[in-house]
Amino acid sequence: MKGVILAGGLATRLYPLTFATNKHLLPIFDKPMIYYPIQTLVNANINEILIVTSGPHAGHFISVLKNGKELGIKHLEYAYQENPKGGIADALSLAEDFADSGSIAVILGDNTTDADISETISTFKDGALVFLKKVKDPQRFGVPDFNPNDKNKIIEIVEKPTNPKSDYAVTGLYLFDSKVFDAIRSCRPSTRGEMEITDVNNHYIRQGTLKWAELDGWWHDAGTFESLFAANEYWSRKSFSL
Ligand code: G1P
Repeated sequence: MKGVILAGGLATRLYPLTFATNKHLLPIFDKPMIYYPIQTLVNANINEILIVTSGPHAGHFISVLKNGKELGIKHLEYAYQENPKGGIADALSLAEDFADSGSIAVILGDNTTDADISETISTFKDGALVFLKKVKDPQRFGVPDFNPNDKNKIIEIVEKPTNPKSDYAVTGLYLFDSKVFDAIRSCRPSTRGEMEITDVNNHYIRQGTLKWAELDGWWHDAGTFESLFAANEYWSRKSFSL
C-alpha cells in the first residue's frame, strides 16, 4: 500500500506562527511536525509516499525532507493543491495518479500518534476504514454515530457536531480503496466552502463499505495552539522517558 500525507491549508488558526512557514513544518519537540505522520507510515512498511501541500510556503518541504531517504522513504512525491482552502478531500483528489488504482493509507499532516497501524493495513481489502479515538472534546472533530444495535457499524459521521452522538473522534488516519476518487467526485463543497473528508466517508457508509478500528495508542492533532502544545508536551515527555 502507498501512503498519502495531506499537508496543505493556510493554518490561520495558528497565526502568527504560520505567517512564515507551513504548519506541518512547525516543531513538535525536536522534529518538524510532518516527521511524525511519515514515521507512522514508514513503521507500517509504507515507503512510497505522496505529500500534498499548498499555500505560499510549499517549497519549504523540499528543504526539510529532500528526497525522504533519511526518514526511510524509498520514493517521495509532492503535489500542489492550487486552492489552499479547497479542503481535505480536494487535496486527496490530487493523489489519483500516484495511487495507480491501488489502496492508499492517508494521514493528515498535523496528526501524530504512536499507534502501530501495520496490522490493520495488512488486513485491509477494500472499501474504506477510519481510525477512531475516544476524546474529551468530540465537538472539534468528525464524530461517528454508531448503530445502536451493532457498534461495529457507523451509520453517519457528523463534522464538528454541536451535540456529538458519541465521544469518539474520527482521527485523520484513513484507508481507502481506489474508489475514493469517484467518491470525491460525487461530493460538493460544504457550507464552509471546503470539500470535506467526512462527506467522502459518509459516501462509503451509504455504500455499506466503511469499517472502523480504534487507534491503539496516543493520538492528537496539532492544528490549534492548545493541541500543538499538548502534542509538544506528549512527545517531549516520551522522548525524555525513553
Ligand atoms: C479534520 C477533519 C475531521 C477530523 C480531524 C482530525 O478536521 O475534517 O473530520 O476529525 O481533521 O484531525 P480539521 O482539524 O482539519 O478541521
